[in-house]
Amino acid sequence: MEFNKDKKIVFSGVQPSGMLTIGNYLGAIKNWKTLEENYNCIYCVVNEHAITVRQDPAELRKRTYETLAIFIASGLDPEKNLFFVQSHVPAHAELAWVLNCYTMFGELSRMTQFKDKSAKHSDNINAGLFTYPVLMAADILLYNASLVPVGMDQKQHIEITRDIAKRFNEAYSETFTIPEPYFMESGTKICSLTDPTKKMSKSDENENSRISLMDSRDDIIRKFKRAVTDSGTEVKFEEGKDGINNLMNIYSCLTGKTIKEIEKEFEGKGYGEFKLAVGEACADSLSGLQAEFNRLMADKSYLENVMKNGSDYANYLANKMMSKVYRKLGFLQIK
Ligand code: TYM
Repeated sequence: MEFNKDKKIVFSGVQPSGMLTIGNYLGAIKNWKTLEENYNCIYCVVNEHAITVRQDPAELRKRTYETLAIFIASGLDPEKNLFFVQSHVPAHAELAWVLNCYTMFGELSRMTQFKDKSAKHSDNINAGLFTYPVLMAADILLYNASLVPVGMDQKQHIEITRDIAKRFNEAYSETFTIPEPYFMESGTKICSLTDPTKKMSKSDENENSRISLMDSRDDIIRKFKRAVTDSGTEVKFEEGKDGINNLMNIYSCLTGKTIKEIEKEFEGKGYGEFKLAVGEACADSLSGLQAEFNRLMADKSYLENVMKNGSDYANYLANKMMSKVYRKLGFLQIK
């Protein structure tokens, strides 16, 4: 693998903290395909981020393979995109330490995800959870990424990354590229099926709140049938109707139809008929991905090979940046 010097760099990451959901897929991964030809794309399985919350080691190992398999099963070509596992590139943790010294306590205290997660895991509010966005900044800045394609929940983390990069550049001259978040037109916030005011999450305790990418057809249809909606009947996108709006948004992402077209398609039909259509569209569009995922998971040595090749090149790129950063900081480097 060798990057084309004329193309800009894209970086994004996914935590192997559970089987990915249609939130991860529609909000991020599905859209990465559109970037493949015009950018040098890097996608990382961020296992170091995942341990900010307790993980079972065997489960984490399995999820690491699975997350990589999902990248490939989604149609991303391992010859064209750089895939690797975060802990295989030690520079992420190294740069995170450096950037910790250029990040303010007050800035981190304002992160809404920290507030949410510390409320949810009140028995384990560890320092890693607090400095999580700094590791994320390190991921992005190590590779001079210009674009970061993510869902809306990551917006604040990209903003702090930009602030940290600017602060370092001002202190030590131009070092890091200032990255931009990249949101797609739709799918940037897929909500929970049981509480549509919250985002759908792979780590939600309630399985019915999410569609996992490996759910069976029956489970998908059942979960959509039971999805929380208001007491209305009309399939119409309206302020305050979070449940039906979310389902319309999901259906739009899956089928490519606009909200107007969906309203027309379901005019005079009730919620029941619509929910079934969403379930069927979702099951149909995941079936190819599921087959390819199962094929890949049966070939661990192939996945390991992809990880190995990816981390070789990522280490090469990351070490170049670390050496530049250490030079600027005044750290002696001995050959
Ligand atoms: P993670 O693992 O929670 O999610 C992976 C990607 O999926 C998007 N996403 C969603 N999009 C729409 N609707 C949802 N309900 C939904 N849930 C998740 C996320 O926005 C993300 O794009 N901190 C990141 C991982 C990370 C990262 C990075 C991302 C670590 N380093 C560097 C970009 C660049 C996270 O927890 O994603």
